Amino acid sequence: MTKATFHISGSSKPLRGSIDVRGAKNDILKGLAAVLLTKGDIAYKNMPQIEDVDRTLELLAALGVRMTGKTARACMLNASHIKGHILRRDIAEQIRASIVLAGPLLARQGKVRFPFPGGCVLGKRPIDLFVRGWQAMGARVRVVDDEYEFSASRLHGADITFYKVSVTGTEAMMLSAVLAHGTTTLRNAALEPEIPHLADFLNSLGAHISGAGTSTIVIEGTGGSVLEGPGEFVTLPDRIEAGSFAALAAARGGKVKITSCNPEHLAVPIEILREMGVRVTVGKDFMLIERTGKIKPIDMIKTREYPGFPTDLQAPFTVLLTRAQGASLVFETIFEGRLAYVDDLNRMGAYITPCDPHRVLVNGPTELRGRRVESPDIRAGLAFVIAAAIAKGPSVLEGIYKIDRGYEKIEARLRRIGVDIERKKS
Ligand code: EPZ
Repeated sequence: MTKATFHISGSSKPLRGSIDVRGAKNDILKGLAAVLLTKGDIAYKNMPQIEDVDRTLELLAALGVRMTGKTARACMLNASHIKGHILRRDIAEQIRASIVLAGPLLARQGKVRFPFPGGCVLGKRPIDLFVRGWQAMGARVRVVDDEYEFSASRLHGADITFYKVSVTGTEAMMLSAVLAHGTTTLRNAALEPEIPHLADFLNSLGAHISGAGTSTIVIEGTGGSVLEGPGEFVTLPDRIEAGSFAALAAARGGKVKITSCNPEHLAVPIEILREMGVRVTVGKDFMLIERTGKIKPIDMIKTREYPGFPTDLQAPFTVLLTRAQGASLVFETIFEGRLAYVDDLNRMGAYITPCDPHRVLVNGPTELRGRRVESPDIRAGLAFVIAAAIAKGPSVLEGIYKIDRGYEKIEARLRRIGVDIERKKS
């Protein structure tokens, strides 16, 4: 993990140009996990070149998945012969999404062992929904050397109600249920667009999943037969990256075209930008963001499960709100601990007052001043890139490997629209 830093010179100069969006981290990581349910060649395309993809490919290689034809954005995987049931601890501890691999591995091998999943520390990140789901399908769980071990000679269908909506919980149970004996129903399932995308991919290989994209998903298990390739997984454009670029363009002002994205996945953030006086023109695969006038405050941004305002855009939009002509409330309902970055933003000159562990009042407009700051997690890291880009004076952003986990070569793309940002290896 390099100790690189971003050196950013803030400015009020409007941004101009276009910026392209890469494949979605939270889509490809699940598409890669699904390979464990298959045999034959599976082609992956539009992959982002980010740390989490490299780490997941390493986890799969350690399980015997063969990779050929690796280019910047594509590869071919073949999981006809996989070995073992253990997720490499040194890697699985780094990324939360590694738990999604546990679902198909348990279904394929009848056993899986993995460490408590790592990733961004957004509160305590429990996995009780996964434990309950796999137990409902017949798995036994034990803890061995502070790793989880699930085993099941055969997984059977189950009727599972999530007591709270979980994106990876829904995905992991869907993946496990594909090979189970019998029918599984997932109730109160997550609706994120990556979930129907994953279901369509699995169905193209012979799975029988219906209702993905609604809160009730029904999976007819194959009774243990592995899905047959060949197949193809084309990664969705990253809606969080697109939304983050829109927040940057709105905060700095100017005219920026965000290309290779899917505005349909950003309906609520787009409406919020329009409420704030930002002009958003939408095409099939682009958004044009224009902001010349003042930014209006918004009574409240409340993060919700999809299709509500995404928690992953909360920090970037909070930075944008520091420029609004008045006060706006930000209510983070999904993760505790996802407002911790606000202290550092206040040290840059923001005037954000915490109301309770889930709500802050953003007073604007305030002038941010550049400073040295550590990126706390992937999404708040991007928020500090935005803060530094609009601040007065220079900033140094540390811990940018976290940003590299979710955004491919972000500095090269930001420079093209006028952000003065440079990566320095220290
Ligand atoms: C996914 O995380 C995303 N990660 C997150 O993006 C995203 O913020 C989140 O969904 C919400 O949209 C990936 O897809 C890899 P959850 P996930 O389970 O699935 C609680 C990023 O930066 N919960 O939907 O881990 C949990 O604590 C990341 O790309 C339990 O209580 O989130 C949270 O409060 C950050 N028990 C709520 O549910 C469980 O067993 C929703 O979390 C699981 C979750």
